[in-house]
Amino acid sequence: MNMPHITLPDGEKVPAYGQGTWHMGESRGKRADEVAALKLGIELGITLIDTAEMYGSGIAEEIAAEAAHGRRDELFIVSKVLPYNASRNGTIEACERSLKRLKTDRIDLYLLHWTGSHPFAETLAGFEQLKQQGKIRHHGVSNFDRGDMEKWYALAGGKTVASNQILYNLTRRGPEWEVIPWCRERNISIMAYSPIEQGRMLGHKALAEVGARHGATPAQVALAWLLRQDGMIVIPKASRQEHVRENLGALDLKLTAADLADLDRAFPAPKGRTSLGML
Ligand SMILES: NC(=O)c1ccc[n+]([C@@H]2O[C@H](COP(=O)([O-])OP(=O)(O)OC[C@H]3O[C@@H](n4cnc5c(N)ncnc54)[C@H](OP(=O)(O)O)[C@@H]3O)[C@@H](O)[C@H]2O)c1
Repeated sequence: MNMPHITLPDGEKVPAYGQGTWHMGESRGKRADEVAALKLGIELGITLIDTAEMYGSGIAEEIAAEAAHGRRDELFIVSKVLPYNASRNGTIEACERSLKRLKTDRIDLYLLHWTGSHPFAETLAGFEQLKQQGKIRHHGVSNFDRGDMEKWYALAGGKTVASNQILYNLTRRGPEWEVIPWCRERNISIMAYSPIEQGRMLGHKALAEVGARHGATPAQVALAWLLRQDGMIVIPKASRQEHVRENLGALDLKLTAADLADLDRAFPAPKGRTSLGML
């Protein structure tokens, strides 16, 4: 497998494809399948896992730890602090709880999940302290539009933001107007979440037509469309092993100019500013 990478502002290379974990840990009966799916992904070479203290009220982090057992050093783990915990001390305490659940001594990329009432400077101060203590390696944000990014970036130390995780897929192209170019100009990576729109987009005719030319599935087309973009990390979630294998096939799919033109017709690029979507 040829895993693509993106480069963080400090030069570190990070896989451009990872496994999401939202909704994992919500049902006891599904836990074994969720662990098995993540584990399969790791065995197949997917070394980035995206999780959050919110997911399954912390249980998704425990599931990630179980799947990662014995292989922590190969992995790049992303987690997130909830906005209502994101005061300076609250951020530090939330991270320490996540570290315990993740059974690790460090989170590779720690994000503010979305904007809340705590001033950004407080959250950033928490991130900086965690970094000094070696408890996180990089920090970033999520669900930030351009205005939020500008405010964060203007803070003392704000330019160290490594990533902005946002809702972005073929049916949600609004971020192409403003926030993606803004981040790209500053070498801030984008993590595209809900990259297959939680499955809702997969019945679209254009995805089937483009896929048929390559013997690829609609999900593979949707993921390949994202993966071809610079500085883009794509984090589909799959708790079924057949989905893990299918989605990974997107790495072998190279869309042609004709494919891209057809996808543009079916899923038009934005013609103006729209507010950032959130799921
Ligand atoms: N920062 C944020 O605010 C935020 C918000 C949303 C998501 N995220 C992150 O991004 C990750 C991905 O987003 P998401 O989970 O919302 O949605 P997604 O990855 O677009 O879709 C996941 C859903 O699609 C199904 N699926 C996966 N592969 C499939 C395939 N090949 N064919 C048919 N169905 C398939 C999964 O089913 P099975 O599980 O049954 O396999 C699951 O129900 C999350 O898990 C989370 O880590 C972050």
